[in-house]
Amino acid sequence: MEAKIRALKAEKNAVVMAHNYQPLDIQALADVVGDSLELAVKAKETGADLIVVCGVRFMAETAKILNPDRKVVIPVEDAGCPLADFLTPDLIREAKERYPDAAVVVYVNSTAESKALADITCTSANAVRVVMSLPNETILFGPDANLAAYVQRELPKKTIVPVPPGGHCYVHTGFTLADVEAARRKGGTVVCHPECLPEVQEQADVIASTGGMVRGAAGAGEPWSVFTERDMVSRLRVLYPGRVFYEKPEAICVDMKKISPADLQRALECEEHEIILPPGVMDRARRALERMIAVGA
Ligand code: 13P
Ligand code: SF4
Repeated sequence: MEAKIRALKAEKNAVVMAHNYQPLDIQALADVVGDSLELAVKAKETGADLIVVCGVRFMAETAKILNPDRKVVIPVEDAGCPLADFLTPDLIREAKERYPDAAVVVYVNSTAESKALADITCTSANAVRVVMSLPNETILFGPDANLAAYVQRELPKKTIVPVPPGGHCYVHTGFTLADVEAARRKGGTVVCHPECLPEVQEQADVIASTGGMVRGAAGAGEPWSVFTERDMVSRLRVLYPGRVFYEKPEAICVDMKKISPADLQRALECEEHEIILPPGVMDRARRALERMIAVGA
């Protein structure tokens, strides 16, 4: 299957992009593995005719928005992100009515329709930098309330209003203070994703995006307890053999596990499932994404 997939990639001038949470067999077949920001930036740079995104739907939509003239497919149609579904265009419009002077920052874990209403998007790798780049004192920030709390802590002079107030990722809110205590007993460094609960963030030694974890682990020697989706640790073990990483076995993003190598092969063969979005939505969302990319990581 691996040989067939490689042949199809060459034949179709295709690029396969995988998020850090994809199963290892998919990561091994990808041309690019990275965090949401890295995938967005690389999607824009690729010269491929066909872009296959192994991740969840908002990642494939982002690739399509940034590459409107290329074919973008996701191997499994219903690989979604429950966090993205917390934010709706109506919620953004209502918040804008209440805070007319606020800027709207939309996390990339969101629908294309929500991005289209954003002044700028952000990822967990650049959320602080993106908010810092805005002159507005009040920022409407959605859909992740825990990432919003992280940005608020880093930038106390801003007023960050989470939209909606309780938007969260079930994988990351599954980490508790009991997990921090258990990690402390093992020793080493506790590294958490900013989608974790604020009380967990406060007790962690390092808060980082998945790409930040890849970069940060390069300079670290002691064991790491990694508070994010468990296949992030699979990736870290491949990159840094011999290093000690602890994962939480139950921290699984179900949607990130939907794509198998057979699905990837079918996606390359049949060029399915194609991402198609209304042109007006794409144009507005692209503006917000490109503004984010210009701010950098
Ligand atoms: P990153 O942007 O850190 O890759 O995170 C994406 C994500 O879905 C986290 O749950
Ligand atoms: Fe969405 Fe959470 Fe899965 Fe990330 S881990 S894709 S935020 S559900």
